[in-house]
Amino acid sequence: MIIEPRMRGFICTTSHPAGCEQNVKNQIEYIKSKGSIDGAKKVLVIGASTGFGLASRITSAFGSDAATIGVFFEKAPAEGKTASPGWYNSAAFEAEAHKAGLYAKSINGDAFSNEIKQQTIDLIKADLGQVDLIIYSLASPVRLHPVTGVLHRSVLKPIGDTFTNKTVDFHSGKVSEISIAPCNDDDIQNTVAVMGGEDWAMWIDALKEANLLAPGATTVAYSYIGPALTEAVYRKGTIGRAKDHLEATAFEITNSLADLNGKAFVSVNKALVTQASSAIPVIPLYISLLYKIMKQEGIHEGCIEQIQRLYEERLYTNGEVPVDESGRIRIDDLEMRADVQEKVALLWDQAVTENVAEIGDLEGYRKDFYNLFGFDVAGVDYKAEANEMMGIESIA
Ligand code: NAI
Repeated sequence: MIIEPRMRGFICTTSHPAGCEQNVKNQIEYIKSKGSIDGAKKVLVIGASTGFGLASRITSAFGSDAATIGVFFEKAPAEGKTASPGWYNSAAFEAEAHKAGLYAKSINGDAFSNEIKQQTIDLIKADLGQVDLIIYSLASPVRLHPVTGVLHRSVLKPIGDTFTNKTVDFHSGKVSEISIAPCNDDDIQNTVAVMGGEDWAMWIDALKEANLLAPGATTVAYSYIGPALTEAVYRKGTIGRAKDHLEATAFEITNSLADLNGKAFVSVNKALVTQASSAIPVIPLYISLLYKIMKQEGIHEGCIEQIQRLYEERLYTNGEVPVDESGRIRIDDLEMRADVQEKVALLWDQAVTENVAEIGDLEGYRKDFYNLFGFDVAGVDYKAEANEMMGIESIA
């Protein structure tokens, strides 16, 4: 079928298999161009199909020749109906990994559930024996709690006061003011239940219990801090509470892995256009301005550049993993550079509908957004018939 982007609100409801495939190939080429990394060889990535998790899977496989198991929750295709992009990304990833002689299998289902944890445990037991790196990169709006049966929904709200600031509709380029009413206590608890560290700890406990963690195993989850501009709705809002919880959980997991000499880290990553971040108010304007400055300075990075640097310059240096005063790995160092933030803040004050396309990188934002769904990717013929039924080799 011929596939075109179809937008509904903040999401695109179609995706392009050939575009997703090209995106994955581009990321693989980037990793190969950077040379090999002396990293983990048996890797489990939870949230492996898009964004930072996909970049982690690609970096492990093509940077360190690692066997990878990827867990994700994606929509499979049907005749005449495209899959979600993470499905096509994973199909392309596995095809490329297998061509390169690398072990790669995937599990599609709810990572919060006991069933998917058990399936993953069975697969590791059968095929890998143990894993030495576990990347935890889930971004989800909901979690069905496996013990209580409660369905938790995360919200993106400020705590305490109404937050009013600018935002941009990146499709129309219209800059407007939005106000977000503060959350209630349940909102905080629910957001922490979905995006905090409880499920990460459950995964690590279950893997340890089944004796599937190799000595010295490392686990990494991803967090975000960001600037004062977005603080009220991000780091000091409901999602920030969840990230605080995630970061605190790293210490608990490290304690629980003491007998294996294992370690848990949180890596604070850069703001990037992903399906998760485009849904957060205010963030698209911040990212548009940030991209403009970082591109001007020649320090812009996407998910793959971030994760390549995380592995090469933080995780696998042969020395201690460098962390900040709160024990976190910082790979958001370039975003948070004082000169970058000062310039973004100046642009923020000036930004209006009439100038935002010029002072901000709205074009880059839009391109990255369409790229997430496999559209607007260089070298792809969008007029050609595409195979929407493209399958993932390890998923029958
Ligand atoms: P994403 O939306 O691109 O990827 C989310 C992944 O989680 C996908 O593989 C998806 O299939 C999987 N997933 C979601 N719900 C699932 C479920 N119930 N079961 C199994 N898999 C499920 O998100 P992104 O942006 O890569 O985020 C990953 C992590 O990185 C999050 O913790 C996020 O907060 C963090 N982060 C994101 C930043 C950004 O600007 N995008 C910046 C810094 C950190």
